[in-house]
Amino acid sequence: MRNALLSWSRLRRGLTAATLGLGVLAAAAAATFAAPAGPGMVHPDLWPSAHSPAAMSDPETEAKIDAFMAQMSVEEKVGQVIQADITAIKPDDLRRYPLGSVLAGGNSGPNGDDRASPQAWLEMIRAFHAVAMEPRPGHTPIPVMFGLDAVHGDNNIPGATIFPHNIGLGAARDPALVREIGNATAEETAVIGADWAFGPTLAVPQDVRWGRSYEGYAEEPEVVRDYASAMVEGLQGPMPAKGALASGRVAASVKHFLADGGTEGGKDQGDAKISEDELIRIHAQGYPAAIDAGVLTVMASFSSWNGVKNTGNRGLLTEVLKGRMGFEGFVVGDWNAHGQVPGCTPVSCAAAFNAGLDMFMAPDGWKALYANTLAEVKSGEIPMARLDDAVRRILRVKIKAGLFATERPFEGRFDRLGAPDHRALARRAVRESLVLLKNNGALLPLRADAHVLVAGDGADDIGRQSGGWTISWQGADNTNADFPHGQSIWSGLHDAVTAAGGTAELRADGSFTTRPDVAIVVFGEKPYAEFQGDIPTVEYQPGDKRDLALLRRLKAQHIPVVAVFLSGRPLWTNPEINASDAFVAAWLPGTEGGGVADVLLRKPDGSVNRDFRGKLSYSWPKTAASVKPLHRGDRGYDPQFAYGYGLSYRDHREVGPLSETSGASTTGGDRNLLFRGGRAPAPWSFMLSGAVSAHPVDAGAQESGKAVSWTGEGDLRISGPPVDLTRQTNAQMALQITYRIDRAAAAPVKLQLACSDKTCASLDVSGLFARAQTGAWSTVAIRLACFGAAPADLSQVTAPFMISTHGPFGLSFAEVSIVPDTGKAVCP
Ligand code: BGC
Ligand code: BGC
Repeated sequence: MRNALLSWSRLRRGLTAATLGLGVLAAAAAATFAAPAGPGMVHPDLWPSAHSPAAMSDPETEAKIDAFMAQMSVEEKVGQVIQADITAIKPDDLRRYPLGSVLAGGNSGPNGDDRASPQAWLEMIRAFHAVAMEPRPGHTPIPVMFGLDAVHGDNNIPGATIFPHNIGLGAARDPALVREIGNATAEETAVIGADWAFGPTLAVPQDVRWGRSYEGYAEEPEVVRDYASAMVEGLQGPMPAKGALASGRVAASVKHFLADGGTEGGKDQGDAKISEDELIRIHAQGYPAAIDAGVLTVMASFSSWNGVKNTGNRGLLTEVLKGRMGFEGFVVGDWNAHGQVPGCTPVSCAAAFNAGLDMFMAPDGWKALYANTLAEVKSGEIPMARLDDAVRRILRVKIKAGLFATERPFEGRFDRLGAPDHRALARRAVRESLVLLKNNGALLPLRADAHVLVAGDGADDIGRQSGGWTISWQGADNTNADFPHGQSIWSGLHDAVTAAGGTAELRADGSFTTRPDVAIVVFGEKPYAEFQGDIPTVEYQPGDKRDLALLRRLKAQHIPVVAVFLSGRPLWTNPEINASDAFVAAWLPGTEGGGVADVLLRKPDGSVNRDFRGKLSYSWPKTAASVKPLHRGDRGYDPQFAYGYGLSYRDHREVGPLSETSGASTTGGDRNLLFRGGRAPAPWSFMLSGAVSAHPVDAGAQESGKAVSWTGEGDLRISGPPVDLTRQTNAQMALQITYRIDRAAAAPVKLQLACSDKTCASLDVSGLFARAQTGAWSTVAIRLACFGAAPADLSQVTAPFMISTHGPFGLSFAEVSIVPDTGKAVCP
């Protein structure tokens, strides 16, 4: 009894600690025995309560839903709960499969073109709508809901305004700004005819090694709580008592429910091993605010809580979210996430649906999922009442989001994409998000009538300053030409300096023709998204301090140096900070790079133009070994710059020199790069077994490739410590090989993966290699999902590349890597 009391009171710590009286304790202890226990089990009455506004289920809306429900066939109902991706569905398919929703994933564009014009997006979305609304016998016309990741502006669309990623908005501490950004984003999303933005992310990231840290506003729940309602109100506008959201507003989707930012080691799609108390106190805080503000949808997280996948957790989805938090909209799954629930596959998952998932995100497997779900309903495995509940929720959202509106005045208003007022707003957001970490000798603000050298490979790169989820999924392949309205940081600096009568020179490598008065060096992380951005330590440029060398070179010439650091998270940068006189954390500012010049440079008359106002919403690490979770007030909390830190021009504080002992034992290394420059870089090694030999070969540069020849049975493999390729196989990722056939194969050739040294997945590539021209180099990307056709456990892959055959064969290769599939990858 005593123990039960103690653990119960520990559980409630932070929630009711101040008010917990003896009577309450006794009652709580009684509840302990009544409540179920075990991993993933919840105690709903411990959670904050909330409720969707009454206006979301007004009598008129509910009557319309009743009428639809009376008319719809079971096939139509099942169709409503399934969402397909545009890479795998055509409008015509909706005639046979009456799906409720279509999405465009991060790498999906109209007609397979990521960079398709806004016009092409609109035409495609209209084509889906048209088929859904067609009068046909036996068909209930219901608009299909089109969603996409408009997470920092309508970021998939060339020409759209790209706002700073959420980490930067968190630093701004300005809910009113966030509301306006939501508003502008909704408008630009409505322009292409879309109905739904998959945001905002309400993660409260606790370990910035997580590659999605930049999608979270802050590591403390307070900022997330304030912003949750602001962004939902911005995207959706007020929920009217009757009728639908105003035109130019879109449905929001708060994500990823729950504790996506709490996974162990910051692993994407990982496991949050935490108490229910911490789940509530840290990770749940944004959701009640969003629900009270009328958010129409919630996206369930890929991740687990104490080993139980959230997508299949009835306690979380049904008892907490729909029960305690009174959520009346619908829950959408994440990208094939239901396939990770025990007993499920991407094409069949009654368990997730019965747990409370209302709509499956089934990008590629939707057709089989439709058939299987229909069968599960008919057999009773999915109760009809559960299906009806899900469909009612979906219809409610469609009605309230305005999908039935006959007028869509923002559609086709392409002048609103990147409109001047939106860009001015984004520029303001950039100014507000910048955090000044160091300003020794009050170097900043700079006089603009000077000779300014702008260096660093991030200075003139709008793609870099925008990060992941920009035009493409990982955002790694953009050039300035992809941003017709965008401005690089260099261009903004150049404009301001020239306007003040100064001169500016751009040299990425820091060389110059005229000795500058000051150098502004713009550098930082390269774009990434989701799991591709997970890192082993928080060290910046581990093992390759190129940017540090550049800063030091300038400093050695006694040129004052201002560092502008672009990153999706705070990183250990003490050496870089020491090598700079002033250091600015600029996060991922988006297309309006001019906002940086607004703050760094004085007005032409020499007075201060704009001061810094950003404050860290994440603690800045003191060593490369620092990992959260430590919070303000926790014992041992010892960051380099604390949460809330940020200098202004009124502060005169000297910083440093800071310790340059990294403290990290492991170094990074790009695990996606398996072979380049004639070798397999660490942690990989190149191995042969059987009747195979290899010798160096020139592939562009001397000895940059390897020629492998077989005389009989054998294989070549690139192996290393086990890596988990589950996430890569589920997403659109590919194994890219630059190769040359030297001698045609006499026997079948297989491309394989080895797990704990045993083959765990295999593809026949004989045909692919037979079609290749002997003696010519070519590159092929093979979709990792092709390996997934026969379900295998790919969580312990020890050789992500292996080629085997049993007869004479000659193959050279220059590069092997794991890359995002931009639509060109194949299944052999
Ligand atoms: C991400 C979501 C995103 C969805 C659709 C998923 O992999 O986790 O945040 O909304 O894909 O692109
Ligand atoms: C899609 C993303 C999605 C991810 C799932 C990618 O291929 O483009 O939208 O989030 O796969 O992990």
